[in-house]
This record gives sequence, C-alpha cells and structure tokens, in this order.
Amino acid sequence: MNEHKKIQLKDYRPFAFIVDHVDLIFDIREDHTRVTSKLKMRKDPAWADETTPLVLNKGKFDIISVVAGDMVLLPGEYKSDDETFTLAATPDVFELEIANILKPDENTALEGLYRSGSILCTQCEAQGFRNITPYSDRPDVMAPFSCTIVADKTRYPILLSNGNPVKSGDLDDNRHFAVWEDPFKKPCYLFALVAGDLAVLEDRFTTSSGRDVALKIYSEKENIALCSHAMTSLKQAMAWDEKRFGREYDLDLYQIVAINDFNAGAMENKGLNIFNAKYVLADPQTATDDDFMGIQGVIAHEYFHNWTGNRITLKNWFQLSLKEGLTVFRDQEFSSDMNSRPVKRIIDVKNLMAAQFPEDSGPMTHPVRPDSYIKMDNFYTMTVYEKGAEVIRMIYQLLGQDLFRQGMDLYFEKFDGMAVTLEDFVGVMETVSGRNLDQFFLWYTQSGTPEISMTRQYNDNTGSLSLTFTQSTSPDRNQSEKKPFHIPVRISLINRAGETVKQEALYELTQETHTFKFENVSADIYPSVFREFTAPVRLSTDFSDQDLAFLMARDTDPFNQWRAAQTLFINEIKNLVTAIRTGRAMTVSSGLIQAFSLALEDRKKDRAFLSKALALPLETEIKDHFEIIDVEAIHQARTFLKQTLAKNLESELKTVYEICRPAPPDDISGAAMADRSLKNLCLAYLGCVPDKGNQALVLKQFENAGNMTDEFAAFKILSHMTPEMRDSACQAFYNKWQARTLVIDKWFSVQAQSRLKDTLDQVKQLTTHKNFTMANPNKVRALIFAFAMNNPIHFHRADGQGYEFVAERILALDKINHQTAARLCACFNLWKRYDENRRILMKRQLETMAGQKTLSKNLYEIVSRALE
Ligand code: TRP
Ligand code: ZN
Repeated sequence: MNEHKKIQLKDYRPFAFIVDHVDLIFDIREDHTRVTSKLKMRKDPAWADETTPLVLNKGKFDIISVVAGDMVLLPGEYKSDDETFTLAATPDVFELEIANILKPDENTALEGLYRSGSILCTQCEAQGFRNITPYSDRPDVMAPFSCTIVADKTRYPILLSNGNPVKSGDLDDNRHFAVWEDPFKKPCYLFALVAGDLAVLEDRFTTSSGRDVALKIYSEKENIALCSHAMTSLKQAMAWDEKRFGREYDLDLYQIVAINDFNAGAMENKGLNIFNAKYVLADPQTATDDDFMGIQGVIAHEYFHNWTGNRITLKNWFQLSLKEGLTVFRDQEFSSDMNSRPVKRIIDVKNLMAAQFPEDSGPMTHPVRPDSYIKMDNFYTMTVYEKGAEVIRMIYQLLGQDLFRQGMDLYFEKFDGMAVTLEDFVGVMETVSGRNLDQFFLWYTQSGTPEISMTRQYNDNTGSLSLTFTQSTSPDRNQSEKKPFHIPVRISLINRAGETVKQEALYELTQETHTFKFENVSADIYPSVFREFTAPVRLSTDFSDQDLAFLMARDTDPFNQWRAAQTLFINEIKNLVTAIRTGRAMTVSSGLIQAFSLALEDRKKDRAFLSKALALPLETEIKDHFEIIDVEAIHQARTFLKQTLAKNLESELKTVYEICRPAPPDDISGAAMADRSLKNLCLAYLGCVPDKGNQALVLKQFENAGNMTDEFAAFKILSHMTPEMRDSACQAFYNKWQARTLVIDKWFSVQAQSRLKDTLDQVKQLTTHKNFTMANPNKVRALIFAFAMNNPIHFHRADGQGYEFVAERILALDKINHQTAARLCACFNLWKRYDENRRILMKRQLETMAGQKTLSKNLYEIVSRALE
C-alpha cells in the first residue's frame, strides 16, 4: 500500500492568480469529447511575483494543444502529468487555451464528464473538475463561466449548462450547438453540463419581487410523468426561502436533471442541479411515503444551496460544513414547516444517533471542520452534514429566531460573491448578538460526542430541586485532552398531572459541572431536559424505568416522549442481553408492556409520532449502547422483545391496524401518511410472531396494496418469515416491477436485509442477477451496502464469510468507483468494538485490502485509518 499525502488546513495558501473568465467548449463525438478551455488570467499581486509558476490541477488525460497568448506552446514549454499542468513562467496578464480529449464512456468513477445510459453529464464536487480540463480546482477560485456544447442532434437534442442559454443553432452533419453563460462567479465544482435525449416538465415561479423564473425538470422520456412531486417540492422550497430567510432566486431559469448513475443524492450546480433519479421520480404506485419525503427534502436542500454554498461559497474544503451543515439545517427547518415538526426532529435525531455517534466513536472521527484529509470525498460525512446542522441549530437556540435571522441577513449581505470560512459565519452571529462564541467554536474544531449525565437532588426542607449536569468527552486521535463544550439545554418542569409548572427556558453549560436550582417546587416534579434535543450529546439521567414510563406518556415535549420510550426499550434490551449472556430466562417487564399499551390506546396522539415512538430502536442503534457489541445477543434480545410485545398486545395492534387502514392509497397528505406509518408498524409487530393468521394478514396487504408504501411494508415483513414466503413474495414483486429500476432497488435491498439463514448465499446469487451491476451506485447501495450496514447478524457471521464477501466486493468496486468503494468500507470501521473472534476476522479483511498494490486514494485513507 503506497502512502498518500495528507492535505492540511494549516497549509492553506490562496491561489496566486485570478481567473477573470472561463470559456469552455465541449465537442461531443461518438467515442470521445474534445474539451477546449480558454482562460483569461492574471497574477494576484498579493501572492505572485515574476518567478511564480502557474500550477493547475489536472486529471489523467492527454493534452493535445496549448496556446498562451498568440503562441502555440510545444510540449517542452509546459509540464503535464497525471496530476498537474505547469507553466514555469507567465506574464502578469494572459490568456491560456488548453485542449484535451476525454473518454466519458470509460469513466466509471462517475466524476468529471461521464455517461449514464444515453445521457452525458458531469459531477465536479469536490475535485472532479480537474478531470475535465486543467484548472485551479479549489472552491476559492471563482470566475464567470461560459460553455458551448456541440453534439449530434439526434442523440443529444438537449444541451444544458449553468446560467442562461444565449445562443443555439444547427451545424453540418446533423450536429447542433448551444451556448450558455453564467453571469455569477462560481468555483469550478459548481460547473455542470448535460447532453441527451430528455423529456422536460415545465413550470414557472414568480419571485416576491415579481421576477418570473422558468422551472424545468428533465428526465428520461419514460419517466417524465413521475416528476410532478419534485416540481411541487421545488416551488414550496422557493416560496419558503423567501418567507423564512428573505432569499429570492437569482437567475431566470432553474433546471433539474434526473440521472440513474450518481455517487451521491444530488448536486447543487448553479442553475443546473443534477440529481440521483431516486430523489426526483415518484408516484404512489412506485414510491413509498419515505421516498416522497426524501424527494421534498433533497430538492429543497439543493435549492437552498443557491445561497448557502453557491452565492457564498467555501474558502477551502475544510469549511465544507459551512455550506452543508447550514443547508441541512435549512432543509430540516423547511421539512418541519411543511410536515410534522416533532416527527421530523425525531427522524433527524434518530439518524444522528444511529450513524453520526458511531462515526464519532470510530477511526473516522473528525471535528465538524476536519484538520486534514487525503481525499476530500471521504469527508462528506454524517459529522460534517448532520452534526454540522446540529451546531447551527445550537446557534439558533442560543440567539433565538430573530437574532439568528439578523445574523443570516448580515452573512448574506457581507459575504455575497465570496469564498469564506466558518469563522466568518460565527463572526456575524457574534456581531448581531454581541455574544462571545469562542468557546462555542470548539464544536467546529474538537471531535467527539460529549457525554452528559444529569442527576436530581431534591431538598424536602426548602422545596428546591437541583439538577446537576456533568459533561465529558473521550480523548481520541484528534485531541488527547478535550475542553468542555458550550452546551445549550432547554429545560422545563412538569407535575404528575403532566402540567407545565415552569415554562421552558434555555440554560447553558460551559463548565464540566453545572448545577441549576429550582425553588418552591414539590417533590413529585419532573424535569424535562434537552427538550427537542437541544444539543448533539449522549445523555444519561437518574430516571428510573417508572420515571421514563411517565415521561413517555406525559412529557410536554414530543421529542422527549420519544426519547423516554426509546430509553425504556434500550434498558429492556440491555437486561435481556444480560439474561442471555448469563444463561437466565428472558422476561419482559410488565411495566414496559403496559406503557406500550397505554401509548397505543392514546388515539389522540399524532399517529406519525406514535409510529416513531413505538418502533423499537434498530440493532445498529442498540449496538452503540454496548462497550463490546454482541451481535447475536442483541439480535436475539430485540427479536424477543418485539415478539413479546406483539403477543401480549395482539388485539390492540389489530384494532389500531384496522383504524388506520382506510387512508386512500394515493393520498400523500400528512394525515394519510401518518395513518399508513402507524398501520404498518402494527403490521410489522403482528408479522414477527410465527402465527398463520398474522401471516395471512401480511400476505393480504402485500397482494392488495394500493400503493408502494403498503406493498413494500408487507414485502419487508414477508422477507423475514420463511424461505418459501420470501421467495414467492420476491417472485411476485419482481414480476410486477422488473421494468422499474428504482423499484428493483427496493427488491434487492429487502433480500439483502432478510434475517433468514441463507441470506448471504442469496445476496451472492443476486450479484449475478441480470438487473444487478456494480457500475450503478444505487444497485450497490441496494444490495451490498444494505447487507453490510443493515444486516448485522449476517454481515457479522461468526465464520467471517460475510466480511470476506463484502471485502471482496469493495476491492472489485474500487477498480471502477473509488468514491463508493471507500464509503462501503465504513462497515469495517468499528472492528475494535466486537468480540475477539470477529475482531480478528474483520481486521484480517482490512489487512487484505491494505495489502493490495493498487488501492485508490479514497479507499487507502479509510483502510489505513481503520488500522491505525
Ligand atoms: N454537495 C452535494 C450535496 O450535499 C453532495 C455531493 C454531490 C457529493 N455529489 C457528490 C459529495 C459527490 C461527494 C461526492 O448536496
Ligand atoms: Zn449539500
């Protein structure tokens, strides 16, 4: 394994040149594309002198000509290799024209210019633009771009790029061209081009100042009828950003293109978003309610980037959370306003605890602003995105809505058109609030999840309740000693009747230990703390299971009700795991069954909320609560708990199932979705007991479902029942949906996550299925990621075959798509947390990978960190 160089934040230097204009020409031919880049440049007197060479980033392609000013340069007059293009000397002001040949059909990495089906498209973030043409590929080099595309008119009738279309026309040989101009300066990672035979859905939006914007969503022709939910979501997002943040769209045209082969969810290229088709295409027949929500959220996320990311961009990639954390915060707020706020909060926090907390406890732990990277692609993480959003949310809490909005306004006013840093962002928040946020800034520079313990002391004589909070953060590879964080905490007090006796207020922890005292309260008062999950911390309290059952029913914050329920479940599972390990019989406490039953009967409650509160934590969430992860015991304990609840509450579950059933199948209103989610939770409980009647109920829903939400919910349950039930459901589902690639992804993922014994063999078989290909990231995510990340009992088979299979797939994938291969490898990150047998087996696979001669930089970074 070769060593690769680390890029460090402390080595940041500005680029020594200014790019005044970029003019690109793409001449698309049958088996290649010729790119010509005309750069207008000058030296930046602040950073360059006569001796400063021009060094541009460059990918692995051959240069065919270089013209500097009026002079054609000979190959000896410039230097070019697989990584850089260098001119030893330049005048102060000059023009440079470089031409090179690309082979998009051979580009399986899906960065730079590549083919997806019949469509040619680009993906440049983070550092893919260098694979298109030599350039200073960094976010703080901003320039106006123009782009000319020339291609065959039959194969590529639609030619798109950023900004506005300014000219187009026909050429000889059935060819045509289009010229695009983007008036806004941008870094090259926001450049985009699309060419293909696409259908378009058109709409319009009038901005608050009365400007008329054309909205266009492009997809393959057969899918254009599936774009309307995306269009609705886009208009909602545009209106919301005006109302909530005063941000209007700035071009006359907003374009979105749905692409089947895409490494991420979507990309915010200026005026031309490129999307994974999964986040555009939907109708109730083929998409679940979760898919509908996902589309609304991602469409909004990319739209919001136009201000937070594009108009104001990053000084360097270390600042990634400046755009991502902030934009995730914005899309979370949008989804909360459009749908149920408490449920959105629960979904986001659950996701953070299931995926970011473990990331922070493993070898990839990094601050929200990392100090170094080998490949930036590896730092598009839960920490940068989701924890980054939590950090913004804490600022929002500390300042309050009005000051936060003033801070945002100042941010937009002060830094529009610039490439800035997290200090700049926090700086405006300090300016408007007059607060000092120095200690708060540790959230950006110090890694790790703080652990908070809360204990209560009640003084009978004085009637005062003291709450003592203690924080500590474990040392890790980034800092051997951790300073205390500045932690906001919302607290209110409630009595036994569930009434608020002290209004919610914001408190702040800045030291290791803090005690807050509440006078004149009675002894049976409950504190409700960290309401709405005020800070991204692990919380332990002195609440008994009885206290938790009370809070689950009566806390005045739905998030805390949810947390109480989940904590009860976790406690119960911990007890069951202990029973298994000490050979005792497993029993579920009657208190838990009762609390569950009460909640189920409480029909006043929001059904979407109930479906979250009564869902058991996933095995991947449960494992975070154990020092050493016992995969089998956790699985056994959770299954036992689920079955026990189902057996004890069978008739209640059936009643609620029936009550929720009438939701019209194609109604995607919040109420209908809520009904479906509670109904399908009940069905999942009922379906986990091996009982013929319940099986028939699941099968009936599977066969008669009027939409994908219900069909898929039943399909998942069937996939765990018996090999026969699974196989016949798979057969039926496949026959029905084989022509719909996004639905077939669901088909793969259900099989990959089955608990049945032969799952690994099934998954291996499926890798040779005609609908499967390692070249399509959605397929790899549906089958291999789903198996490796969401099927712990089979991935962590004691014989190591799960590990062997996945490691072999990672290496195969690394040859074609290094970004996705490196992401998949995260399934080995927590190897040190398992029992010795598994530890050895997982390590062996990491070492096998490390031993390869040709490992991509991406995968090298993940593997070497895991083994450090
Ligand atoms: N900026 C994109 C977003 O968050 C993320 C993204 C798109 C991305 N394509 C990528 C990240 C490729 C890494 C690699 O909306
Ligand atoms: Zn983003």
